[in-house]
Amino acid sequence: MSVLETIIRKRNGQRLSAGEIKELIDGYSCGDILDYQMASFLMAVYFQGMSLSETIALTEAMAHSGKTLHLTGLKGMVIDKHSTGGVGDGISLALAPLVAAAGLPVLMMSGRGLGHTGGTLDKLASIPGFRTALTSRQALRQVRKIGVAMIGQTAELAPADKKIYALRDATGTVENISLICASILSKKIAAGIDGLVLDVKFGNGAFMPNYAAAKQLTQVLITVGKKNGLKIKALVTDMNQPLGNAVGNSLEISQAIEVLKGEGPADFMTLTLALGAEMLVLGKKAGNVKEAEQILRGLIPTGQALDKFYCLVKTQGGKINQLPVAKHKLVIKAPVSGYIYSMSTREIGLVATMLGAGRQKKEDLIDYSAGILLHKKIGDPIQAGDLVATMYYNKAGIVPELKKRLLAAIVIRKTKPARHPLIYN
Ligand code: URA
Repeated sequence: MSVLETIIRKRNGQRLSAGEIKELIDGYSCGDILDYQMASFLMAVYFQGMSLSETIALTEAMAHSGKTLHLTGLKGMVIDKHSTGGVGDGISLALAPLVAAAGLPVLMMSGRGLGHTGGTLDKLASIPGFRTALTSRQALRQVRKIGVAMIGQTAELAPADKKIYALRDATGTVENISLICASILSKKIAAGIDGLVLDVKFGNGAFMPNYAAAKQLTQVLITVGKKNGLKIKALVTDMNQPLGNAVGNSLEISQAIEVLKGEGPADFMTLTLALGAEMLVLGKKAGNVKEAEQILRGLIPTGQALDKFYCLVKTQGGKINQLPVAKHKLVIKAPVSGYIYSMSTREIGLVATMLGAGRQKKEDLIDYSAGILLHKKIGDPIQAGDLVATMYYNKAGIVPELKKRLLAAIVIRKTKPARHPLIYN
């Protein structure tokens, strides 16, 4: 079957066989199939969707597009965590060292920013010298030595995802359950981990707009993951406002340090502990989530979690005392009194991107010090003139326009909004 026929069949809503899907993925990985052909296929999938068996075939083809790791010689199971993407979602930065400090080996493979959402890889890259491009062998050696490694996708592991991920970002084809599932699980299967805790986000800052869609994605992720031998637990969580206070790479690194000192924002801490507890239970380091949370909480005041973070940064070559700081900042004040009623989270992510914190094209360079600090959360009371947010930037030209957009994205009303849970199951 030619690639063109495969694209046309998907465009027309037909089901593809596992063989056709594998041929497409293998062809794209080795460069025989070109970006414009794959972009067209992705758009066809976006509109026509994929069945469960097609999603399984896509995930497996992408997982086996490179090497697969066998994690031997580690003390215990290796459990990773992955989020489906959100704004201000730097949870992994605090979570990986925290869980490693509890004695569970962590090999975390993260991605770059996608759409309006940030990526853990970009956040780590904001630490001068931090090497995310470890080979699988180096990463494994590091996990054996210090219990944790945080890496980007290597050229060896699931290379098809690395290429498709960047292409989806640039072609408006991110928000599709099958593509998200294949992207997340292919790299986890290739990394040879034992278990995975998923943070499936929904809301106006997530790729899934509502709870029902997030549940559907969760179901597909669990089914495909289990079929490939992964132990999986998923939490569905709210992304109708940025997580924590920071949106932007080095700002989120500083926030992660605060969290590991026990001084971070409450929502960030709650979710870090909840996901970490699930990791410890999956990895059999605790009998239940309550016990697991207690273990994790105990590692913060003793400084063990923070020490593990510094050790991780140092081992991967990072110089944490040289975090970049933006040249300019602009404070944004509340125009009226009332309560923070809602936030357009995607818009906040886009404003941060335009300040330089993310990419608008896949070749763009990131300004690691750019971003936004939010001083209020939904439900907080506010007086006219109070600080709402601070924008950090180095390029001044577009800032007045972005200030307007940011102010419009944070809605203040006289009435207090209803409270919604952060974690749904
Ligand atoms: N994270 C990924 O790795 N891939 C996606 O498609 C979304 C979130």
